[in-house]
Amino acid sequence: MAIIAVAGRKGGIGKSTIVGNLAAEFAAMGRTVAALDADPQHSLAAWAAQGHGMLAGCVEKMDGGAETLPARARKAQKEADIVLIDTPPGTPAMAYQAALVADLLLLPCGPSPLDLLALKEALAQALKARAARRTKRPRIRFVPSKVLMNTNLGRSLHSSLKDMGRKVLPPVGQRVAVAEAVAEGLTVREYAPGSAAHMEFEKLAKAVDKIASRS
Ligand SMILES: Nc1ncnc2c1ncn2[C@@H]1O[C@H](COP(=O)(O)OP(=O)(O)O)[C@@H](O)[C@H]1O
Ligand SMILES: [Mg+2]
Repeated sequence: MAIIAVAGRKGGIGKSTIVGNLAAEFAAMGRTVAALDADPQHSLAAWAAQGHGMLAGCVEKMDGGAETLPARARKAQKEADIVLIDTPPGTPAMAYQAALVADLLLLPCGPSPLDLLALKEALAQALKARAARRTKRPRIRFVPSKVLMNTNLGRSLHSSLKDMGRKVLPPVGQRVAVAEAVAEGLTVREYAPGSAAHMEFEKLAKAVDKIASRS
């Protein structure tokens, strides 16, 4: 069905966290999921290896160079309904290849003004990939990440993102359960089902699914 990549220039803004938790939400919707860990630091794979949760069964390490990513993702697509790609910060080549193969590109953004600067760069790169493909792919969406809910910073993030002219998906709040789940090798829906954090990822996954199933 769909290849969904998560990218961003900055480390620590929640890319891997979003990939892992979306994987769990899609699996709960009855989809088969492959989550490609294309970050050489392999933090998604390390998270999966920490426990015996659903991630252990769906995360695949990608060790080749950036140029091997599209073929690898298309291969994974033959066996899974949803292919998620986690990309490294900093190194633009992998994120560019991900944008070349993805149907949908999620660009998470944290609440700091510096996060917005990095986001602008990531968006420019995604648009370059789209121009190279000569299609409307990938669709591009912003995801407010690690948001301090009910704060001015959280509220202003949403409007700053909207001002950048792309659609904004439901936010992921900064929540203890998200980090605690990682320590157990679990996703939030496994670690804290029904929690606010779980509900946020469920809402995000539904929004992503709606876009992904529109071909
Ligand atoms: N919504 C969140 N709430 C709390 N902690 C989070 C959240 N998202 C990410 N983190 C924590 O922040 C750190 C960086 O997240 P990560 O997903 O690895 O970022 P990236 O992949 O962009 O480098 C990790 O320790 C992770 O557990
Ligand atoms: Mg990461």
